[in-house]
Amino acid sequence: MKIAVLAGDGIGPEVTREAVRVLEALGLPGLELVEADVGGAAYKAHGHPLPPATLEIARASDGILFGAVGDPTCDNLERHLRPEQAILGLRKELGLFANLRPARVFAGLTEFSALRPEVAGAIDLLIVRELNGDVYFGEKGIRVLPDGRRQGWDMMSYAEDEVRRIAHVAFKAAMGRGKKLCSVDKANVLETFQLWRDVMIEVSAEYPEVELSHMYVDNAAMQLVRNPGQFDVIVTGNMFGDILSDQASMCVGSIGLLASASLSEGTLGLYEPIHGSAPDIAGKGLANPIATILSAAMLLRHSLGLEEPAARIEAAVAGALADGIRGGDLGGTMGTVAIGDAILERL
Ligand code: IPM
Ligand code: MG
Repeated sequence: MKIAVLAGDGIGPEVTREAVRVLEALGLPGLELVEADVGGAAYKAHGHPLPPATLEIARASDGILFGAVGDPTCDNLERHLRPEQAILGLRKELGLFANLRPARVFAGLTEFSALRPEVAGAIDLLIVRELNGDVYFGEKGIRVLPDGRRQGWDMMSYAEDEVRRIAHVAFKAAMGRGKKLCSVDKANVLETFQLWRDVMIEVSAEYPEVELSHMYVDNAAMQLVRNPGQFDVIVTGNMFGDILSDQASMCVGSIGLLASASLSEGTLGLYEPIHGSAPDIAGKGLANPIATILSAAMLLRHSLGLEEPAARIEAAVAGALADGIRGGDLGGTMGTVAIGDAILERL
């Protein structure tokens, strides 16, 4: 069982280190961790944010544990050399098209939500974000118009098979949960999302038990803070899912708590916290490692089929939070390593 560990930039290395300690503490026989450079760190060391060697290590692994990429000192590089291209490249190259971003309030943490506790307490939802298409992967550029004005442009599109395969992932996820699926689109304005809606309706015929609803993304953003408890599974495109999942994290209380899985058609998956590289606190030992530790649990479950140790990690995290273990993101004072220690103790 080979896990590629791609720590990346900013707080990536510090939070990933804690998740690795947790994985090692489980003492799983045959587990091998292989580290590789990615993001701005890889650009600085090898001249490319996703060096071929890193891609190969990722491809040859059974699961990828990913920290974060993003480095302000790289923001002026040509786009294809920027750190973000590493995660976009991994998603594309490895066919990681289904991004699962669960959001649930932990016991005792409702007071940290940006929402009223009784509203936040009802959150138990899963965002299924399409990850290989949409405007993120379309042709793009900055061109000069005949009259001399510069124009930025990005092509948004979804082919029906791309929508269909994420629809199946979402319907299956809904079957395993509350059997409610809300497809979020912008069909009132965008043709891309008219097709999206049409295909969702077509696929729904195969899942008669799942109640499918549709919501425009602006309304979904509003409903997510008004009454997030109404959602079970949300399925949406790459860009809307990017935005709504950050929003969902604050409804839960901290972006430092949310893990994610990016899955392919096979068992290979990439697991990462939904937060970014947080350059403002990088290297200070302040970041909350919980989202990454929970991502490691998702890796064990989804890519290695190891439910029992995954559940042990989740129980240790829940236990630590219930006992008042708090980093700065949750009004506490504990640093990255101390939070890792607290979770290891409970493991
Ligand atoms: C995310 C991130 C990435 C995205 C960035 C780093 C390219 O925001 O995983 O949500 O936009 O998908
Ligand atoms: Mg994002």
